[in-house]
Amino acid sequence: MSIPIIRTLADLRKTVAVWRHDDLKIAVVPTMGALHEGHLSLVRAALDRADRVIVTLFVNPKQFNSAADLAAYPRTEHNDAAKLASLGAHILYAPGGAEMYPQGFATTVSVSGVSDGLCGAYRPGHFDGVATVVAKLFLQTGADFAFFGEKDFQQLHVVRRMARDLDIPVEIVACPTVREEDGLAMSSRNARLSPPERQVAPRIAAILFDAAARIGGGAPIDATLDEARSAIAAAGYARIEYLELRAEEDLAPMHTLDRPGRLLVAAWLGETRLIDNVGLPARREAIARAAASDGSHPDVISNRAVRGPNQAARHT
Ligand code: PAJ
Repeated sequence: MSIPIIRTLADLRKTVAVWRHDDLKIAVVPTMGALHEGHLSLVRAALDRADRVIVTLFVNPKQFNSAADLAAYPRTEHNDAAKLASLGAHILYAPGGAEMYPQGFATTVSVSGVSDGLCGAYRPGHFDGVATVVAKLFLQTGADFAFFGEKDFQQLHVVRRMARDLDIPVEIVACPTVREEDGLAMSSRNARLSPPERQVAPRIAAILFDAAARIGGGAPIDATLDEARSAIAAAGYARIEYLELRAEEDLAPMHTLDRPGRLLVAAWLGETRLIDNVGLPARREAIARAAASDGSHPDVISNRAVRGPNQAARHT
C-alpha cells in the first residue's frame, strides 16, 4: 500500500477540485512529520469524520527560533508515508520551502492575545510562524475540518482564533494528548532525550497531574504550583519556563478554579524542551456534580475528576 505524495499547490488544487466536484468532505491534519502515535490519532479521528484526509508535512522554518533547532528537526518522510498509507489517509501533501514561501513572500499572520505569554513569551515569533503556515494550509486545502492535538494547547487556541478572525470556513477539531505507557506526552522531540533523560522525563507529567488533582481537590493554587515547580526541578529538569493555571476557554490567567482550567508547563531536560498540559474541571461544577450524583464529599469528586497521566488517552 502506498499514499500519493503531492509536492505542489497546483497538483493539490487539482485533486481537491475533483473531491469537491464529488461533494466529498475533506479533513486536513497539519504536521511537521516524524510521525508518532499522537499524530496518527489525529489522522484516525480525521478518517472517522471526513471522506478524504490530507496529511501535510512541512517543517516550517518560520516557527523555529534557531537555525540549529530547525536543522536538528527529525525528517523521516519515507516512514511517515508508510504509516499514513497503512492507516488509509488519502494524500500526503509535502511541499518544498519555495512552494510555501516563494521569493518575495511578505505576509505574516499574527494573532494577538492568545499568542502572548506561555510558549509565546519564550519563543518570540513562533506563533506568528504557526498562524501563517496554518492559514496557508487551510486556504490551500480548502478543508472542512482540521485536526489538532491538545498537546500543543496554546497552538490550538491560536489556530482557532486565526480561523475565526479570518472567516476561514474550517471546523477545528481538538484531539486528546497521546502518552507513552509511563505517562510522557508523545513528541517528535522525545527522540532527542538520552536514555537517562528518558527515564526522568515522565516525572513532569506525574507532577503536573498530581498538582491538577490537588488544586481540583481544593488545595491553594499558588502554593501547589510552587511545590510542583520544586518537584520538577528536583526530578532533574534544569529550567522551568512556566507552570501556570489558565482558563481552558481563552487561556486567561486564573486565580480561582471558578471555570474549567488548564495547567500548562514547559521545561528543559538537558537540551530538550518539553511541554505538557492537563485540564481541570471548575470546582463549582465538581461540587454540583457531587451533589447531583452520589452526595460524596466534593473534594473526593474533584480529585477523581483529574485522571492521571497513565489513565489519559493512549493509543491502543
Ligand atoms: P507537529 O509538532 O508535527 O504536530 C502536529 C500535530 O500533532 C499538532 O496538532 C500537535 O498538537 C499534534 N500532536 C503532537 N503530539 C501529540 C500527542 N502526543 N498527542 C496528540 N496530538 C499530538 O504542531 C505542529 O507540528 C506544527 O506547529 C504545525 C501545526 C504542523 C504547523 O507547522
